[in-house]
Order: sequence, then C-alpha cells, then structure tokens
Amino acid sequence: MQDTFTPLLLQWAKTIQRDMPWKGEKNPYLIWLSEIILQQTRVEQGTAYFLKFKANYPTVKDLANAPQDEVLKLWEGLGYYSRARNLHFTAKYIANELDGVFPSDYKSILALKGVGTYTAAAIASFAYDLPHAVVDGNVYRVLSRVFGIRTPIDSTVGKKEFAALAQELLSNDQAAVYNQAIMDFGAIQCVPKMPNCQICPMHKKCIAYQEDLISELPVKEKKTKKRTRYFNYLVIEQGENTFIEKRVEKDIWQDLYQFPMIEKTDIVEQAVLESSAEWKSIFIHNTATIVAVSTIYKQQLSHQKIIARFWEIQLSNTENLNPQNIIKVKQEDLRTFAFPKIIDTYLNDTNSQGLLF
Ligand code: ADE
Repeated sequence: MQDTFTPLLLQWAKTIQRDMPWKGEKNPYLIWLSEIILQQTRVEQGTAYFLKFKANYPTVKDLANAPQDEVLKLWEGLGYYSRARNLHFTAKYIANELDGVFPSDYKSILALKGVGTYTAAAIASFAYDLPHAVVDGNVYRVLSRVFGIRTPIDSTVGKKEFAALAQELLSNDQAAVYNQAIMDFGAIQCVPKMPNCQICPMHKKCIAYQEDLISELPVKEKKTKKRTRYFNYLVIEQGENTFIEKRVEKDIWQDLYQFPMIEKTDIVEQAVLESSAEWKSIFIHNTATIVAVSTIYKQQLSHQKIIARFWEIQLSNTENLNPQNIIKVKQEDLRTFAFPKIIDTYLNDTNSQGLLF
C-alpha cells in the first residue's frame, strides 16, 4: 500500500471540489492566519473568521499594530483564546524583529510562538513547497485506518510512528498539493463516523475496511477527564452602568472580559453566595440586592465543563466596587468588549427579551 497510497490520494484530490479561501494561497502570513484559526476549529466556522481577519489586517504589520482588545474582540466566539494572544504576539515579533518578513525555513517557522509541528509543516509546504508532511487529526485517522495501525495516536511512540510514515508518504515535489489532499481526504471521505467506504478509492487496500476496524481506529490511549466548574457571574446594575473585569487567570479565557465572578465547587443558593468571603470583599462599600437569577448556562470546553448562573444585582449607592481590577462601564458599551461565549449567549438572551437586566 505504501507505494499506491500517494498516487491514489492525489488522483482522488483531482476529482473533488472543495473551495476554501486559503486554498492555493502562497502568502505565508495568510496561510499562517488560516492555520491558526483552523487549529481546533471546523472549516465551516473558521472561514468567516479568516475573511474577517484578512479584511481587517491585510498584512502582518496591520495585525501587529492592532490593540490586543480589538484582536480578541474579532476572535470572539472562536474559543481557545491563547491562539489569538499568540497570533498577536507573533505578528508583533515578525513586524518588529523581522522587519515584517515572514520566516521561510521550517525551523524558524516552528520557533514562532503558537506554531507547532503541524502548523509549521502546513506553512512551509503551502507557502514555500518545502517537503514537510502535516500530521493532524485527519492524518492520524486516515493513516491508522489505511495502514491498520493500532499504536495510540496520543502516545510518544505513536506520534513518532505516524510522523515517520506521513513523511515517507509525502510526495516531495508536490508537498503543498499532497498536504492539502490528505486533509481534504480526512475531512470529506475518511470521516470519523460512518464513512462511505463503498465509494472510497482506497477501500481495496485499506486494512481497516478489509478487517472491519473502521470504528476502532484510530486508537487513543487516554480518556480525557473533564472537570466541572461552577461560575457565578454578578451582573450588577448601578443606574446606566454595570461592572466588568478582565480575566487574568491563565486557565481559560485569559484577557477576555467577564462580569465579576465568584467560582464555587458546586451550584450555590443565594444565601451561600451572599455570605461568601468573595461576595463580602466585592461589596465592602455597598449594599447589594439580588433581584433575579438566570437559568443555568453550560459550556463544554475540551477539558472542562462550565456551569454558570448570572445573578442580577442592584447597588444601593454610586461608589465603585472594591477590587481594583473591576471597572465600571456603561451598559450600552458592553458589546464593545470581548466576552467568552457563555456570557455572549446570556447577553443575547437578555437583550432579546428587551431587558438588559
Ligand atoms: N484544517 C487545517 N488546515 C486546513 C486546510 N488547509 N484545509 C482544510 N482544513 C484544514
């Protein structure tokens, strides 16, 4: 199969239509932008963001000169915000240290913050036709099935084995075409669930198909343990104002904004929240009255599940809140800040009912 895989793949790629705005792109900045957006994001969702970023920041210098809050606002809804922070950091590095010239060899590309082996191979091959094979989720799935490889894809041995095989299969003089083809093949033909193997040009050679292992492959070693967290957001009304803070914790949503938040280890009732040390430290100069509480909002992240409730609160006076990092903003300006999706959803719900609170 080793010698027929690549010709079959390239032949298959000629028969499909999959237009994406970065396909055939040779500008390394735009390729990098698309690949960072497409890490952990489906093409259908990522496309609009790519076009938005390209329109707002046509060059790496434009991106470098943008304020971070603006970049995060544009990224809003995509998740995994460290990607946006790294994107901005790297744009500034390229603009300031490299005179705006994108690196053009694999090692220097790999050295960029936020760029791993997958993204480096994608940029090196798409922009410069350098012979580096991409290995992403699509590639693991395709190779494990076609070659019947049961080594776990998340083990050290597995990563090496798949990387070596991928590199061997790469058509060295057509690196860009080959890499795009294997990704498209994984996305269109060799899909995770119930692929239509009858129409697959590889099925006669595919070990998983021949041995009925499609649903068993690829193998993963670890099951990800999910942690559940309980966030209590304090939606505070003080006349036409409300309060928000920038999230500084490095765990999730760093540098995004949120309503002042009290995290608990379980769902809590009003009395428990009001008597907590966090509540008292926030409202030290104020009398705060809870006037309503939202239904439960949930957001599933890759390793965490967030359960949130929004407590709608009225303040008795016009003083600021105690902690320094909490800022007062006009309610009508709330939407200019970048929030995590769970807060966005809440704001959409309240606004659609015609109330801010
Ligand atoms: N996912 C990541 N990179 C991609 C690309 N270039 N085309 C399609 N899907 C992708």
